[in-house]
Amino acid sequence: MDAEDHVDRFGTVGGELCVGGVPLRRLTARVGSTPYFAYDRDAITARVQRLRAALGPEVELGYAVKANPMPAVVAHLAGLVDWLDVASAGEMHVALDASGAPARTSFAGPGKTDAELEQAVAAGVLVELESAGEANRVVGVGERLGVRPRVAVRVNPDFVVKGSGMRMGGGPQQFGVDVEQVPGLLDLLAERDLGLEGFHLFAGSQNLHAEIIAEAQQRTVELLLALADKAATPIRYVNLGGGFGIPYFEKDRPLDLTAVGERLRGLVAERVRPALPEAHVVIELGRFLVGEAGIYVTRVVDRKVSRGTTYLVVDGGMHHQLAASGNFGQVIRRNYPLVVGDRLGEDRGERADIVGCLCTPLDVLGTGVAVPDARVGDLVVLFQAGAYGRSASPLGFLGHPAPPEVLL
Ligand SMILES: Cc1ncc(COP(=O)(O)O)c(C=O)c1O
Repeated sequence: MDAEDHVDRFGTVGGELCVGGVPLRRLTARVGSTPYFAYDRDAITARVQRLRAALGPEVELGYAVKANPMPAVVAHLAGLVDWLDVASAGEMHVALDASGAPARTSFAGPGKTDAELEQAVAAGVLVELESAGEANRVVGVGERLGVRPRVAVRVNPDFVVKGSGMRMGGGPQQFGVDVEQVPGLLDLLAERDLGLEGFHLFAGSQNLHAEIIAEAQQRTVELLLALADKAATPIRYVNLGGGFGIPYFEKDRPLDLTAVGERLRGLVAERVRPALPEAHVVIELGRFLVGEAGIYVTRVVDRKVSRGTTYLVVDGGMHHQLAASGNFGQVIRRNYPLVVGDRLGEDRGERADIVGCLCTPLDVLGTGVAVPDARVGDLVVLFQAGAYGRSASPLGFLGHPAPPEVLL
């Protein structure tokens, strides 16, 4: 997908990109300063509706708060999805404020501190255990508080999901309990009377291949059903992970959600329901829910030509939108889709490098981008900025102010 496709998704008025129906210059005046992030709530709602239609009524949806923890975004999603997944006590507080539903909140991630475990157990959140050591610590927390902890086991599978931008399962991992060690852990949980609700398997993220996702879900279901057989108590929670990707680069094609949905519906009907008729079957998504609904807006503060290359220097950069600079897990830097968002109708006859305001050569937002004859004051818009943007960037690097966020 190219930048034009993203412009079409948001819509335009008089040569300006719109977010939530508000043209870019007016939106910028409303925010009061650049740079900033803007998220479109209707786009998030529409995405959830599409997912519901594709996945059917048997599959519950979780939102991984780490993708975008802005409280207003989390509150909006809390009204649309079934579960919120958090990765720290900080995210847990945002999630609980938003949903008021600890029973539908899960807490995954390595390195949970005793203080975090205590807060989660006290709140009644489902703790997804990443190791035997963590299980023992949760037992201790439960005894201290006089509260029976609710737990699930995060499983590190014995297979790898190919085609993921980031892999979190298969081989040695800091995430989850190796599948071959799970039976031993189940014995410990049964002995210590922990409230085991089920299993979670998250093998990777940013996958655009429907066939690979469907195969991974099939293997995940088989593996978790085999583990469910070994559990001392009935399994009521089966979290199959997610990993649905979004198209960041020009050659990327959107995920075929219909194909994923068809296969998953069949899998749940044929394999999960006969064995576990009552279990919550959950798909846990972050970027797929919010990534495409957000933009990052910066203003051109300088234009210069150096030995034949035109540079547009903007007031934002990698300290706000690290991923677009290619420094968030990418092997080769490629451009995120971007446009001069207040001069859309104009002929894009110039090629320029768009660079941020940080004093490091890493701070590049676009190389060789076709732009109109851009001027100081123009507004540069980066798409696909709704997930892992502000909260996944080094905001303190070089001491510039943190960017505001708005949800329209
Ligand atoms: C346990 C878990 N769940 C969900 C996610 C969300 O992934 P994505 O935003 O790619 O959907 C991640 C990503 O790191 C994760 O580790």
